[in-house]
Amino acid sequence: MSAELVVTRAAALCPDVREVVLARPDGGLLPSYAPGSHIGLHCGPELRNAYSLTGDGLDPRHYAVSVRLDPAGRGGSRWVHGLRPGDRVRVEPPRSAFAPVAAARHHLFVAGGIGVTPLLAHVRAALTWGRSFRLHYAHRPGHGAHLDELRALCGDRLEVVHSAAALWATLGPALSRQPLGTHLYVCGPAALNAAVTAAAAAAGWPEQQVHTEAFAAPPAAPGTPFTVRLAHSGREFPVGAEQTMLDALLAQGAAVPNLCRQGVCGECRLAVRSGRALWADAGLVTFAADWSLRFDVVMSFLQLHGPVPRVHTERVLPRAHDFLLRLPAGPGFRRTNWTLTVDGRLDTSTETYPEWGRDRTAVADGPLAEVGDRLFLRTEVQHLIRLPYSGAVMFLIRTYLLSLRELVAVPAWAARLAAVLAELPPDMADYKGLTRTRGAAVEWLRLHGGVPR
Ligand code: FES
Repeated sequence: MSAELVVTRAAALCPDVREVVLARPDGGLLPSYAPGSHIGLHCGPELRNAYSLTGDGLDPRHYAVSVRLDPAGRGGSRWVHGLRPGDRVRVEPPRSAFAPVAAARHHLFVAGGIGVTPLLAHVRAALTWGRSFRLHYAHRPGHGAHLDELRALCGDRLEVVHSAAALWATLGPALSRQPLGTHLYVCGPAALNAAVTAAAAAAGWPEQQVHTEAFAAPPAAPGTPFTVRLAHSGREFPVGAEQTMLDALLAQGAAVPNLCRQGVCGECRLAVRSGRALWADAGLVTFAADWSLRFDVVMSFLQLHGPVPRVHTERVLPRAHDFLLRLPAGPGFRRTNWTLTVDGRLDTSTETYPEWGRDRTAVADGPLAEVGDRLFLRTEVQHLIRLPYSGAVMFLIRTYLLSLRELVAVPAWAARLAAVLAELPPDMADYKGLTRTRGAAVEWLRLHGGVPR
């Protein structure tokens, strides 16, 4: 949702770069953002441009952008350079497309010209969180935006150069001697981004540790014409060789969010709607129940659910997969899952099996009187949320534990659990890790929970 902000400061940083600072008219807090984020400015009635935020993003009361005048551009930079304190500007909220990787051991930043702006935000965040970093900043003499500020922030972690040859003299060797786990971030003209990416690849950098952001796209060569089909309406129309798909969609009246219209900001990205598109790309698991993300990460959705009995023959998985692909951004969806756990143990991951595997047999074969206090119903409330910008699906699990003795305080719960445990097909009981304990659980619930035989 866009908001109207007021210009509180507008000043030249160097001959062609102007810094504009925006705030809410009431001076209140603005939405926080990740370093490397940009905002969209409505530069007049027909034009919106994306500009990188240079602050650290934590509880901001100001959004600051630094804009280089581009006399040959579409007019956005000329409009920004005309802003004065007190002017009102309509602003789209921050979007993150170039965020630092928090787990990186070291951050190597490379800025070319005005590409320094998102990296200034990265430097601030690195200092706030005590992260190791180094910045190589290449700019024309006398055109170093934020140079004094960066010198003060970075000290000897800043390398300033004024030519491509000087950049490669320092960056070339640096690319070959970074500690393992270093991430590289490059923001500059397309040619610089491409050259640094190629040099990193040649030096053996894994692709996923190299991050680039362009501030302008190179002119696109004509492509091959193709046909677009709209999934909902089924309408089809052609996309010409000299046209982007976004332009064709907008010309047909399709409501596609967009900002730069150059393939830079990522605003127009559409979610994938079909194919084997869902992967466990990242995860943080606090309490795994009879599984392990270490085994499942980088598996497709269909692969990681492979061991679930009958999901393929009953087409449960393809339906769940289609549901997730069509999950709209915004509202969260909930589902629950459950199993039993011994002694309230939360971590029953595959790796720790030797620590807890025997407990199930011990409870099942031990005195029935102990079952009510040692066996727990473990319920997971799971949230599925489509993130609006990246299109990724977040899968969050909150776990609740209730001993059978606590559970029988609600007779309907005791009756329900006993019935479900008794009727669960053997393959499903085995998959859920209940084969050994479910008999003891049903028996105890019948004795102490008022559940009829
Ligand atoms: S509108 Fe910016 S990438 Fe498409």
